[in-house]
Amino acid sequence: NMPFLQKQLIILIVILINSINIGTNPIELTETQLIYNTTMDEYPKLRNKLKTGKQQSKIEKRFLSSSFNNNRWIENIITIAGGNGKGNQSNQLMFPQGIYIDYDSQVIYIADSENHRIIKWRFNNTNGEIVAGGNGKGNGINQLDSPKDVVFDKKSNSLFICDTENRRIVQWFNQINKNPQIITSDITCWSIKIDRKNNLYVSDYEKRQIRRWKIGENPRTDGILVAGGNGQGDRLNQLAFPTSIFVDQDYTIYAADGWNNRIMKWIKDAKEGIILAGRNGKGDGLTQLHFPQGLIVDHWGQIYVADGANNRVMRFSNESSYGVIVMGGNGQGKKLNQLIWPSGLSFDREGNLYVADWGNHRIQKIRIN
Ligand SMILES: *[C@@H]1O[C@H](CO)[C@@H](O)[C@H](O)[C@H]1NC(C)=O
Ligand SMILES: *[C@@H]1O[C@H](CO)[C@@H](O)[C@H](O)[C@H]1NC(C)=O
Ligand SMILES: *[C@@H]1O[C@H](CO)[C@@H](O)[C@H](O)[C@H]1NC(C)=O
Ligand SMILES: *[C@@H]1O[C@H](CO)[C@@H](O)[C@H](O)[C@H]1NC(C)=O
Repeated sequence: NMPFLQKQLIILIVILINSINIGTNPIELTETQLIYNTTMDEYPKLRNKLKTGKQQSKIEKRFLSSSFNNNRWIENIITIAGGNGKGNQSNQLMFPQGIYIDYDSQVIYIADSENHRIIKWRFNNTNGEIVAGGNGKGNGINQLDSPKDVVFDKKSNSLFICDTENRRIVQWFNQINKNPQIITSDITCWSIKIDRKNNLYVSDYEKRQIRRWKIGENPRTDGILVAGGNGQGDRLNQLAFPTSIFVDQDYTIYAADGWNNRIMKWIKDAKEGIILAGRNGKGDGLTQLHFPQGLIVDHWGQIYVADGANNRVMRFSNESSYGVIVMGGNGQGKKLNQLIWPSGLSFDREGNLYVADWGNHRIQKIRIN
């Protein structure tokens, strides 16, 4: 048995040694150490501690230009649907946009836009199955024209679809002999979502607004205006070109505002939104976006953005105006770490992220760690 005091002394020494290591201040690191040994996630915190703006921008360039960060993720990326060139076969897609994952059935629904159809793709399958449209482009009740988004509603066992070029929202039932139904028309819908109280939310990029409907109630009404609708502009009660939207557990609405190159949110019933990302104008810096067209929010409030014209997916935490590139950002191309105009985003139950890689006619899955 060690004497009591001796034990205390050893503990004290251990604490001292540890505190010396933990206390290492980033400012004391050399530039080389910072550049090569700082992860992108740590960067926003470190940035303000760096001495000169010159040093800051040098490091930022390094993050943006090289494979440094993107290679961190590349082993985690796989193609789970499409990827067999542009086409209309069952193993192909043509400019996929919105996607929706049904956790329970382990399927992903894909708005296969230029094939004018909605595809249901089981995880781990090499082929998809047509569940709506697929009868050529047209405005018949069994046809779609360039659908941009889809959501599956378990309660009604049906799909709600942005039938975009037909300027309508349609409901397709998972039942033989039950015809599709038009929910509303005179709407140019980019994105469609359902909240936990069974309300439908739709972004209308021509009217620059977001509207809400109660599913099953007066299906033919115009719904309620919940964001924008004050003409095209960049004030906090305006939108310029709303693309993708998301609604969280507290009925907060998030929207990617394509032409304003920003991400906004509206607390329930708010008249004005709050800018969450993209305050610094159009561009490819880490605080900038260029035509964001996909959006999803995780359980921790982190926002994932398909940053269309920058061919990358960014993640913004609510603590920082700086984003992190989680995918792409390596120019247009079809390598695993490249994207062409990424669009719809979705999570599976395990928190893996799925990206509709619009210009590559494929759906990519990335394990985020
Ligand atoms: C980066 O860190 C690793 C281990 O953490 C170390 O071996 C390496 O020398 C560091 N590189 C630089 C440039 O400091
Ligand atoms: C599929 O593509 C082929 C070749 O481009 C075309 O001939 C055919 O009509 C298409 N089928 C449908 C259902 O659009
Ligand atoms: C798909 O395959 C992966 C591994 O190959 C497996 O972990 C996963 O459970 C499979 N999912 C389904 C729905 O079969
Ligand atoms: C960020 O989000 C987390 C989780 O929702 C919350 O606890 C935290 O207070 C938020 N931080 C800010 C600065 O809003």
